[in-house]
Amino acid sequence: MSILVTGGAGYIGSHTCVELLNHGENIVVIDNFSNSKPHTIDLIKKITGKDFKFYEIDYLDRKSLERVFEENNIESVINFSGYKAVGESLEKPIEYYINNVSGALILLDTMKKYNVKKFVFSSSATVYGDPDIVPIKENSRLGPTTNPYGNTKLFIEQILKDLYKSDNSWDIAILRYFNPVGAHESGLIGEDPRDIPNNLMPYIAKVATQQLKELSIFGNDYDTKDGTGVRDYIHVVDLARGHVLALNKLDKEGKGIFIYNLGTGIGYSVLDMVNVYSKVNNVDIPYKITERRKGDIASCYSDPTKAKEELGFIAEKTLEDMCRDSYNFIKNNK
Ligand code: UD1
Repeated sequence: MSILVTGGAGYIGSHTCVELLNHGENIVVIDNFSNSKPHTIDLIKKITGKDFKFYEIDYLDRKSLERVFEENNIESVINFSGYKAVGESLEKPIEYYINNVSGALILLDTMKKYNVKKFVFSSSATVYGDPDIVPIKENSRLGPTTNPYGNTKLFIEQILKDLYKSDNSWDIAILRYFNPVGAHESGLIGEDPRDIPNNLMPYIAKVATQQLKELSIFGNDYDTKDGTGVRDYIHVVDLARGHVLALNKLDKEGKGIFIYNLGTGIGYSVLDMVNVYSKVNNVDIPYKITERRKGDIASCYSDPTKAKEELGFIAEKTLEDMCRDSYNFIKNNK
């Protein structure tokens, strides 16, 4: 029996493959390398010392996807094949809706055909839009989101709820990630944006390694402790462990649709990030304060209680670990 990991060469997918293999699971991985590199597959094998089957296919290609189900004994599926850049989604909404929503539908329809009904979906805290109250609980108000990327996550969550209503033999876990950062402690895999990063931590990493001159801090007049935006940064390895625990729950208890926040429950400001990154790695992070970024919110952090109580999930890694591992990875991969 194997777990199919779609998008397994990507940032969160690759770290989850490592955790699944270390946990003794068999995996089959697909990826089309639209935002990842073939070499990552070798690195996952190197880190774990384990082998697995890999297919270079696009999950929109139903025929190829069916071949994966024909050739393997797939028991469950984790979907990491979504596009995830907020800004790009505003420029290319059709591409985002096709890849994320149509892709999820084709995947679910194929699962149905092969009677595979255990599914873990990568969702995002973006589904909460601008929250009325922090920390955010799973039953907080959803939307409105501010971009097509966020909408694709909301739409797919709704599709999954409708699917479960129609057939309650499905076992579904929806995992709402807060802000995944950091890298595997080996320094071999991590987040490696091809262009100028949009997100804070990869941008800081490029400033720390002098690939970019300075960080722009988008506003210091928010209603937060130091005026800069507050987020719930979670180490990607903790996040990856959350998937193993979610699958365990579906395996053991099954039958249901479960939604969990995956975060630490702690909010750090942009200035906290800059200060800790600089201190832990002994590097300079030059920065300037600029205008607010459109669509940004003041504070977003999770209430992680439900995942703790129902999955036994606790984010163990500290902000220092996140900053150290991020720098370690970027230094190795400049
Ligand atoms: C964004 C997405 C979220 C996605 C996440 C990936 C929205 C509204 N946000 O979250 O869906 O899951 O990325 O991690 O959909 N900042 C700077 N300078 C920079 C970059 C960022 O000051 O160069 C600040 C931002 O204003 C914000 C914080 O850093 O306060 C974090 O920003 P970012 O890393 O882009 O994540 P989010 O916007 O929280």
